[in-house]
Amino acid sequence: MKYRQIANNEIEKNEYHRMRYALWSHHTEKELWDEMEYILKGKNFYKNELSWTAFVVVRDDGKLGGFIEMTLYPELNFCDSKPVGYIEGWYVDKDLRRKGTGKNLVKIAENWLRANNCLEIASDVELHNKVSQQAHTALGFNQSHIKDNCIFYKKSI
Ligand SMILES: CC(C)(COP(=O)(O)OP(=O)(O)OC[C@H]1O[C@@H](n2cnc3c(N)ncnc32)[C@H](O)[C@@H]1OP(=O)(O)O)[C@@H](O)C(=O)NCCC(=O)NCCS
Repeated sequence: MKYRQIANNEIEKNEYHRMRYALWSHHTEKELWDEMEYILKGKNFYKNELSWTAFVVVRDDGKLGGFIEMTLYPELNFCDSKPVGYIEGWYVDKDLRRKGTGKNLVKIAENWLRANNCLEIASDVELHNKVSQQAHTALGFNQSHIKDNCIFYKKSI
């Protein structure tokens, strides 16, 4: 398996969309496809982000097995440094979980952030998502606060 930035081709777009829909199935497939096309063109999608990128796990057969979607913000009110990176989405296919895949995705995201002059990475997890909370804690994230049904995390990198 390899870890790298997503390639903007049909195979990877279909795979990335499959995984985004698995993570965010409360959205329609069309909404997620349109959003993906938009951000792959490098356009701002969220609010005031400076840039956006996604790193993926590439299986030996060329299909994907996970992703981490990252944005770089000029600042965030609960972080001490700026700019600051944010995990917008983090997903690993079921057959690749608990093998360090998620951890490797966070590592590659942190490398990207360091190269972009960041000293911190931040994230959020819904209150009901105990697995992701355990994974964040295991990877060294510290809880910052709880708001809108989510726990917000940050970590020095
Ligand atoms: C969260 C997620 C990305 C983690 O991916 P992963 O590849 O399983 O993570 P790793 O194998 O690198 O696990 C890192 C550490 O997190 C903790 N962890 C991960 N899954 C866990 C689980 N099911 N139960 C308890 N701890 C867990 C462990 O400490 C683990 O280290 P260990 O296996 O050496 O004990 C994956 O579970 C996932 O895709 N979940 C569904 C989507 C989701 O909830 N995404 C997060 C949205 S905020």
